[in-house]
Amino acid sequence: PATVHRSDDGALRVGGISVTALAEEFGTPAYVLDEEDFRARCRTFLAAFGAVGADVYYAGKAFLCKAVVRILIEEGLHLDVCSGGELATALAAGMDPARIGLHGNNKSLAELTRAVDAGVGRIIVDSHDEIDRLTELARERGVRPRVMVRVTVGVEAHTHEFIATAHEDQKFGFSLAGGEAFRAASRILADDVLELRGLHTHIGSQIFDTTGFEVSARRILSLHGRIRNELGVALPELDLGGGFGIAYTSQDDPAHPDDLAGPMSKIVQDECAALSVAVPHLSVEPGRAIAGPAAFTLYEVGTVKELVGLRTYVSVDGGMSDNIRTALYDASYSATVASRASQAGPILARVVGKHCESGDVVVKDEFLPADIRPGDLLAVPGTGAYCRSMASNYNHVPRPPVIAVRDGQARVIVKRETEDDLLALDVG
Ligand code: LLP
Repeated sequence: PATVHRSDDGALRVGGISVTALAEEFGTPAYVLDEEDFRARCRTFLAAFGAVGADVYYAGKAFLCKAVVRILIEEGLHLDVCSGGELATALAAGMDPARIGLHGNNKSLAELTRAVDAGVGRIIVDSHDEIDRLTELARERGVRPRVMVRVTVGVEAHTHEFIATAHEDQKFGFSLAGGEAFRAASRILADDVLELRGLHTHIGSQIFDTTGFEVSARRILSLHGRIRNELGVALPELDLGGGFGIAYTSQDDPAHPDDLAGPMSKIVQDECAALSVAVPHLSVEPGRAIAGPAAFTLYEVGTVKELVGLRTYVSVDGGMSDNIRTALYDASYSATVASRASQAGPILARVVGKHCESGDVVVKDEFLPADIRPGDLLAVPGTGAYCRSMASNYNHVPRPPVIAVRDGQARVIVKRETEDDLLALDVG
């Protein structure tokens, strides 16, 4: 996680700066990104998967802004985008389009056109309608876009229902079991307007049990082999998706990328040998595992309310608008007093936000020092993924900034939204 230490005055320090100084300069709430930690995670994934010849596509949905795109470029990663907005951000920051993959189950014609015109490296097709649309677009433009077929492998990853994406009864991809994925690949190859690069699967998010990835790899390779045997085409690429879990609390025990890359690549090698088909060039798409642990949210405590016999409610100056995951997925987070050390004994607390509903919880249960009081800074770790990217303006609360810290320097990489920003779209 973001490399955090306590300095002599008891305040947390990250990237060589104390959180007290950060709060003074940038205000709260704020997402604080430990840039070195983010980069180290990029390198660890690249080293682990690069060692088995795989590319790493950072999944921009976890958290994307131009500064992040530049870091990805510098560190040598590829990028997975899933909307026109993410694509625009990537292009604006100078990402080589050939290193971008575009996802989505309902990409608009405008998004597809933009991707095709920009020369995006791969478009992951998700429906027959999209194949039609893209084929027509390619004919019109006289180009041959590179595509992958998103395959639903029927693996039910052990994760929250909302974020499991490869079981059968859901909106993504072409079913493997029903033969739909084979039909999609067949028609793309038969038409020969689009260039079919390979198959793609993604089974869910925040997954710890790596057998899900193994089963999914085996299943998708059976289709890869069938395409080779029945259609005579050895597809050159294969993407095994993202979804690698991170530790939100001390109970979580995530796998090291080395322990993911080795076994995943071995399964691919073994299955390809068994199917007598050449080993395709692999890629993966981690988002959370790169961005998640690299940032924490810094809040200021505003009120402390003890409910006798129950727990103490600690209200902070943000909440479900900057971290919806607790309310939406029943996600677990932890919290720590960041501005000072305390010798006081622990009390059972719940960290809540400032929004007008009781489900506005940031941290369900945490032991905080009994002397916690208004004005204390609170840090909630592990908020680098799916927090700023899922932030809202609920209750007209402006979204917090993202501050990147590194080597004693802090820089704003996403500005704090202002009330003027909120009013700017309101035509009155
Ligand atoms: N590739 C594809 C095709 C995906 O759909 C996703 C995530 C990823 C890669 C990256 O997955 P990751 O490595 O970050 O787990 N909002 C939810 C997570 C939704 C994930 C959707 N797809 C959350 O906050 O938990």
